[in-house]
Amino acid sequence: MNKTYDSGNKTQGALWNGSAGQAWVENQTLLDTMFQPIADLLLDTLADTPDAAVLDVGCGAGATTVDIARRVAPHGRCTGIDVSAPMITAARARAAQHGASADFVCADAQAHDFGPACFDLVVSRFGVMFFDDPVAAFAGLRRATRSKGRLRFVAWRSPAENPFHTVAEQAARPLLPQLPQRRPNEPGQFGFADREHVARILEQAGWRGIDIRPADIACAFPAHHLPTYMARMGAVGRALDDADAATRTAVMEALHPVFAPFIHGEEVRFTAACWDVRASAAPGD
Ligand SMILES: C[S@@+](CC[C@H](N)C(=O)[O-])C[C@H]1O[C@@H](n2cnc3c(N)ncnc32)[C@H](O)[C@@H]1O
Repeated sequence: MNKTYDSGNKTQGALWNGSAGQAWVENQTLLDTMFQPIADLLLDTLADTPDAAVLDVGCGAGATTVDIARRVAPHGRCTGIDVSAPMITAARARAAQHGASADFVCADAQAHDFGPACFDLVVSRFGVMFFDDPVAAFAGLRRATRSKGRLRFVAWRSPAENPFHTVAEQAARPLLPQLPQRRPNEPGQFGFADREHVARILEQAGWRGIDIRPADIACAFPAHHLPTYMARMGAVGRALDDADAATRTAVMEALHPVFAPFIHGEEVRFTAACWDVRASAAPGD
């Protein structure tokens, strides 16, 4: 078990080393298909820096890290960092399977010492909203970035703009009263929903040229994966792990109608309402 999250981020570290990490590992194929358009957006950043040294923060099971490593090979490199031991194990297996020269670190990205100025580009697909001290985390990431280096990440906008990711909690809450309430700006999936909050964090962490734009990204996956998605992912999936059989059945019955509008023939389709965030390590770059 990875212990480095003891320096901070205990709650998120425990979550991602436990049920959340396990669910992401088990459902890699589904999640990779669903979020490939977001990986593609990040890959576009490499168009003018094909040999870059890249850091992928909160890399999870390594889909984006491996895509980037293959794109920047043979002269560039991509390092993935994640606090979750099961996710990093899956990421290493993925890199080996693809013959990609990505390397992985299992550690808390907020506390990890990468060494000074070793990356040209820091990226993340939904992996930077979980820090308990985001200013410290982004200041550390900036120190790890070369003076002409850049930051690019994608994070969720508000729950209201992302119904695909909130209908399950709304429908299941009467049956699962233990579901946690989401609080604005607290670490978690929607921790970066507030644009000004994100801008302040990056500014205080020393990033410059901060550019935060809305991006509405069309995502899809095969409809036969939907029952697994409903039963395993997110806060509802975690609550169902401990639920009795009758509660599970009642919750699944409540979920089917709220996901029905997202089913289009053989596909589930939704729009990911995101922030596309860019910044530079130094002014004027
Ligand atoms: C929503 S998942 C995204 C995973 C991956 N980027 C992807 O798109 O497939 C968020 C990831 O952030 C990681 N994470 C959360 N807090 C972290 C921290 N303090 N340091 C490093 N990774 C962290 C989690 O373990 C998890 O793998």
